[in-house]
Amino acid sequence: MTIVPLETSTEPPAVTSSATGRPVVPPRAAPAPAGPPVLTTRDFHLHYGPVHALKGVTIEILERSVTAVIGPSGCGKSTLLRSFNRMNDLIPGVRTEGEIQFGSVDLRDRGTDVVELRRRVGMVFQRPNPFPKTIFENVAFGLRMLGLKNRGELEARVERSLRRAALWEEAKDRLDRSALQLSGGQQQRLCIARCLAIEPEVILMDEPASALDPTATARIEELILDLKSAYTIVIVTHNMQQAARISDRTAFMLDGRLVEVDDTTALFTNPRQKLTEEYITGRFG
Ligand SMILES: Nc1ncnc2c1ncn2[C@@H]1O[C@H](COP(=O)(O)OP(=O)(O)O)[C@@H](O)[C@H]1O
Ligand SMILES: [Mg+2]
Repeated sequence: MTIVPLETSTEPPAVTSSATGRPVVPPRAAPAPAGPPVLTTRDFHLHYGPVHALKGVTIEILERSVTAVIGPSGCGKSTLLRSFNRMNDLIPGVRTEGEIQFGSVDLRDRGTDVVELRRRVGMVFQRPNPFPKTIFENVAFGLRMLGLKNRGELEARVERSLRRAALWEEAKDRLDRSALQLSGGQQQRLCIARCLAIEPEVILMDEPASALDPTATARIEELILDLKSAYTIVIVTHNMQQAARISDRTAFMLDGRLVEVDDTTALFTNPRQKLTEEYITGRFG
């Protein structure tokens, strides 16, 4: 198997389905600086039955950047994140109002293809959740779902994803072993590799390092910094130092509202809102 090293390859070959010959995974464009809004909400509300969890949130998530969402427990961070790939659909009694868009896709439209949406907007959770399968099959899973059968292409794509997720060196000699044998930090990088394999445009991460030790956390943070040249990343974290270390922009939420969103340095050094200042100086939350 030959693979062009990631550092020199900005135009991976398109993966085509052996069944249909159609592209399964489109090639990525060359990295560019943080760009236009990819995800946008305007006066967006979400209710879980009687619980009004998001109250008129207006935010733009910019392309090829890391946006951190901070705020005290229960303020709606995860709810906002899940709204971006319709994960809240799975919860009965959810009702939304206002606008929420992914590019030109109206995320409130019942007709939106949710499977395709979740391919384009991937998600990594707090607890690493590898499937009880081999390392290889975890990463190949999404590609198989998309109809890719060619073994050589699968191997190339799995290797590439593991390299991008900084797990290849640790995993290459045990691809056929159970993913559950990996450490917590390795499992989380595997989940990131699984997400990358199907070439998402956006990666949503909900406290991806909060269950990990400091060394594993540092590796995830390095990885996020590395990935932002090619992906749009939104990360929920309750760790303000982490937000300051890895994000370009930070959004502060409180009680279902977006209080402020700004460049990370500006938000932490010169917040515009008194509530933000009180939160980042540790006066509540
Ligand atoms: N599945 C659910 N059903 C009902 N209420 C929920 C559900 N998930 C979250 N909530 C409520 O919505 C609010 C926001 O929760 P969440 O988005 O999980 O906050 P955060 O991620 O900031 O801790 C909280 O009041 C929480 O109790
Ligand atoms: Mg949460």
